[in-house]
Amino acid sequence: MGRLVICDHPLIQHKLTFIRNKQTNTKDFRELVDEVSTLMAYELTREVPLDTIEVETPVATTNSKIVSGRMLGLVPILRAGLGMVDGMLKLIPSAKVGHIGLVRDPKTLLPTEYYINLPTDAPNRMLIVIDPMLATGGSAIAAITSLKNRGCDHIKLMCLIAAPEGVAAIQEAHPDVDIYIAALDERLDDNGYIIPGLGDAGDRMYGTN
Ligand code: URA
Repeated sequence: MGRLVICDHPLIQHKLTFIRNKQTNTKDFRELVDEVSTLMAYELTREVPLDTIEVETPVATTNSKIVSGRMLGLVPILRAGLGMVDGMLKLIPSAKVGHIGLVRDPKTLLPTEYYINLPTDAPNRMLIVIDPMLATGGSAIAAITSLKNRGCDHIKLMCLIAAPEGVAAIQEAHPDVDIYIAALDERLDDNGYIIPGLGDAGDRMYGTN
C-alpha cells in the first residue's frame, strides 16, 4: 500500500487556511499555492538519494553530497495542476515537466485524455503527478495509468487537499504510489466537491469563477 503523507509543517498549514478562505483574491490565491508547492517540494524530495563527490573549497578538499539516482519529472494535470509547478521548480529547477490533459466524457462520465506530452526520458525519472484536489481520484488514477502504460514505474502523487474517497481510490488502483497532501478533508458532496475544501481550484487560480 502506498503511503499517505500529510505535509503538516506549520507554514503549509498556515498558508492553506488563507488558500481555503473564499475572501482570498485570485492573485493571493495563486501566490499562496505557489508558496505551499515550494514547501511541499521540500517534503517530497526528503528521500531523494545522494551521491558523494569530491569538492575543493577555498581552503581544502572534501567529500560532499549531491542529489543522484533517478532524476525528477513533474506532470501536472491540466489545468489546476499547472498552478503548483513553478513553486516546485524553485527547489528542483532541473526537473523536466510533462503535461496531461483530461476531460470528463459527458456520456461515460469517465476522464478521457485529450493531451499528453512527456519528457522523452520519462521512464527513467521519478514522476510527480500534480493535481491540487484529490476528489473522487478519477483523474489522478487515469493520469497514473497513462504514465504506467508508457513505461513509467516510479510515480508519486502530490495534491493540496484530498477527500478520503479519493485517497482510498488511489490506494486501491495504484497501491505502489505514495500520496503527498497538505490536508485530508471530511468528504465529497453530491457535486464531487471536497468539503470543506477550497472550491474549484482551477477557477480560483485563474479567476474564472
Ligand atoms: N476539484 C476542485 O477543484 N475542487 C473540488 O472540491 C473537487 C474537485
